[in-house]
Amino acid sequence: MSSPTPRVAIYPGSFDPLTNGHVDIIERGARIFDAIIVAILANVEKTPLFSENERIAIIRDVFKGHQNVQVEAFSGLLVEYALHKNATVLVRGLRAVSDFEYEFQMALMNRHLAPGLETVFMMPDEKYTYISSRLIKEVFTLGGEITGLVPPVVEEKLLAKQKTKKKA
Ligand code: PNS
Repeated sequence: MSSPTPRVAIYPGSFDPLTNGHVDIIERGARIFDAIIVAILANVEKTPLFSENERIAIIRDVFKGHQNVQVEAFSGLLVEYALHKNATVLVRGLRAVSDFEYEFQMALMNRHLAPGLETVFMMPDEKYTYISSRLIKEVFTLGGEITGLVPPVVEEKLLAKQKTKKKA
């Protein structure tokens, strides 16, 4: 008997930077799917805080012990990338009702473009529901505490960036 086709999920996003909310979703996805590919949208913003390669390196470092977590960058249409990877699922995190409208629209557009791809929404632990990459950047830049909200490697890299900026 042939073995079933592995169920591959894509978890797309900007991840600028990776937060503990993202980590929580990736861990949950890795328990459910045979493989989860964290897909970083390349060059979303003209001036991202972390370059595409830095974001890949950070996420690979955090998940180095997880055999079924892969990290890649993608550009162009998400559904095209997902089909190219033989994925059947798109994973998105839902923190609050406020996320829903945008996520619902994207899920339906992606379904329109690729009816065979299913979007699965996952909720992070409630202790992470108020965390977003945008707020992390803002709070850190203004000198606020972000320990426990992002993986330690992200905090280290943020501090290193701040130091080089001060020197310049
Ligand atoms: O972390 P983000 O910024 O909320 O992620 C948004 C992302 C990367 C999932 C979305 O912008 C995306 O899929 N971009 C790729 C281009 C695309 O396929 N656009 C149509 C989406 S319906």
